[in-house]
Amino acid sequence: MIILGIETSCDETSAAVLDNQNILSNVISSQIKVHEAYGGVVPELASRHHLNNIGWVLSEALARAGVQVNQIEGIGATYGPGLVGSLLVGLNTAKAMSFALKVPFVGVNHLEAHLHSVFLEHPAAELPMLSVIASGGHTSLYYIQSKDEYRLLGETRDDAVGEAFDKVAKLLGLGYPGGPIIDRLADKQASNSPGFTKANFGEDTYDFSYSGIKTAVLHHVRKNRIQPYPGSGESSNEIIEICKSFQTVAIQMLMDPLRKAASRLSPHSISFSGGVACNSFLRLKAFEWGAMQNVPVYFPSLILSTDNAAMIAAVAHHKLSRGQRDTMLLNAEPNLRY
Ligand code: KG4
Ligand code: ZN
Repeated sequence: MIILGIETSCDETSAAVLDNQNILSNVISSQIKVHEAYGGVVPELASRHHLNNIGWVLSEALARAGVQVNQIEGIGATYGPGLVGSLLVGLNTAKAMSFALKVPFVGVNHLEAHLHSVFLEHPAAELPMLSVIASGGHTSLYYIQSKDEYRLLGETRDDAVGEAFDKVAKLLGLGYPGGPIIDRLADKQASNSPGFTKANFGEDTYDFSYSGIKTAVLHHVRKNRIQPYPGSGESSNEIIEICKSFQTVAIQMLMDPLRKAASRLSPHSISFSGGVACNSFLRLKAFEWGAMQNVPVYFPSLILSTDNAAMIAAVAHHKLSRGQRDTMLLNAEPNLRY
């Protein structure tokens, strides 16, 4: 079954073609350059750029897959959560194509797609699985019983982990998006100086919190009159130390609820998805911990960790092949949960 997937929930315009669960193409046009100057995604600019880009991104996805438009047998698009103006561009494109081509259409929950992304490259990953979505908009822990049964165990009570990386990078003058820059500067090294305290909600919850550490970095920078990152050289050492220390605590706080849940629920595997799953220190620590616990740990490749349409098409295939359909009445749901 040839499936077209479309993703426009935030600042990536993406289209992918899959043959069942095999990726034939996965084209991603990032708007980083557009939003860089503002230190974060500007919703109006995002939807305008999705509109400009969706046409060529779709053509490119079909061309790279070697598929003609009339060979498409089903279409899926993200309908939430995300920025409403951005979601509408991909969703309405998908609905229009489904109507014109007379092929079935299904809306896809972006969070389910992140959870599913690990199965694209590891279809035989052992279940039940504990799975963390760590992105710019979400930080949540799920228990995956089967590929259709996901149970939310805990989520962030305030900022998402990727948002904390981006905000800390911004206040250190490092640029946008902050995650990859902090990752590179910290160079997989742990540090507890300066020490930032971990949020701790006790034993009865698997929730996360990232607003405290962001504020702690802000206070440290102000108190010590730290100047923005100069780009290179000796004077940037104190900023590199902050990056190491922030990243150490941020990754510990991502792993803590997971460790707690693993000791109680004895999962057969662990997985991570979302942009922060690209973090090299997280990958190092998670694999070390998995080896100690004798539990396999899975990460999607980098291209499937950040927002992409292949994961959307994969969930669409799963739903369409079981006869699920949506109508033209399906609307965007910016606050959709999973
Ligand atoms: O999943 P994603 O592409 O979009 C959302 O759905 O939010 O995630 C983007 C987030 C950004 O906050 C970015 O800074 C973060 O993922 N990120 C990273 C790394 N690469 C991307 N955070 C830490 N380390 C990285 N290497
Ligand atoms: Zn995402």
